[in-house]
Amino acid sequence: MIPEKLLIKLAQRHANGSMRELRTTQGLIDFSSNDYLGFSKKLQPQASTQHGATGSRLLTGQTEICQHLEDKIAAFHKVESALLFNSGYDANLGLISSVARRGDLILYDEYSHASIRDAIKLSDAKSLKFRHNDLGHLSILLDKFSEEENQQVYVITESVFSMDGDMPDLIELLKLIKKKSNVHLILDEAHAFGTIGNRGEGLAQSLHLETDIFARIVTYGKAMGCHGAAVLGGFDLNQFLVNFARSFIYTTAMPQHALHCISSAYDLLQQEENIITDLQLLVQKFNRLVIQSGLKLRFRESVTPIQTCIIEGNDKVKKASLQLQNLGYDIRPILSPTVPEGEERLRICLHSFNTAVECEEMLNQLALIIKKL
Ligand SMILES: Cc1ncc(COP(=O)(O)O)c(C=O)c1O
Repeated sequence: MIPEKLLIKLAQRHANGSMRELRTTQGLIDFSSNDYLGFSKKLQPQASTQHGATGSRLLTGQTEICQHLEDKIAAFHKVESALLFNSGYDANLGLISSVARRGDLILYDEYSHASIRDAIKLSDAKSLKFRHNDLGHLSILLDKFSEEENQQVYVITESVFSMDGDMPDLIELLKLIKKKSNVHLILDEAHAFGTIGNRGEGLAQSLHLETDIFARIVTYGKAMGCHGAAVLGGFDLNQFLVNFARSFIYTTAMPQHALHCISSAYDLLQQEENIITDLQLLVQKFNRLVIQSGLKLRFRESVTPIQTCIIEGNDKVKKASLQLQNLGYDIRPILSPTVPEGEERLRICLHSFNTAVECEEMLNQLALIIKKL
């Protein structure tokens, strides 16, 4: 039996309809996974000479394969260096908690991913959130709070927000940041890598802004269909992380087969350029179909593969997703408190392998379901 106060927390989740449960679905049309390009099924399992990495990177986990892969990653992303982490969660935790020191300030978008918020909690710096994608608000906070002596300021945001699919105005954001030499940008490109830019290079590179960014995070569990992540930045940052990022230092390195898989995913991304155009065209088509189905007002504006249909209330959104699943579509509800109350939603992820007909039929069914809710 677990302690009573934990049982109370669970009972609260039951009561407000936000209980999380592990469920498997099979044979449904995928409108839910982060496998935007279908790479998880395309990549061939690789034979490797050993299973586990046998130690952390600073001990026996460091191999030539790691070194070569990090060089390959850095070259693709046009950056001095790349450092692998076991996941995007670990990358954010290690990077943010180590670079933001006591006396520093973190300004982060209020919709930042949980891994960013957890990292901020671990760091010794002060933190303030700015309103979602609101550069006016960020500018006010920068003017008011970034003048202390010896203070470094880290602005943290995402290229494509995981729950809304929208993007910041990176050009204007960088203009703001570059006004002061002690302000640095950390950009989480988890959902942009593989989906944004002609080669799937992500938002910063698609705008040729990569050299203006202190650190970028790319993850391999989404469009790349693998697992793991890398922090992209300068040589000095790399050296700093190897010495101070605890989620890099105190964990077993990724196994060889995972490294091979990431390397193959980069090759595939460069071989299958059309796949990214296909995905981007499908997103445009989807936006037209949303209008056609009469659902425009329910959908958040998004030019990325993450589309959201707002259906207020945990019970209602769960009901809608269940009905869609019964019709053969894998679409999951995002409940409060993961998103603010009143903004519960269906999160619809588009993939290069989804067809326009599938999208049209699904949206027509969704319109009927919503009418009857
Ligand atoms: C914006 C963002 N950053 C980081 C992560 C964490 O990445 P990973 O799944 O590799 O731990 C996610 C995953 O959901 C994410 O959406």
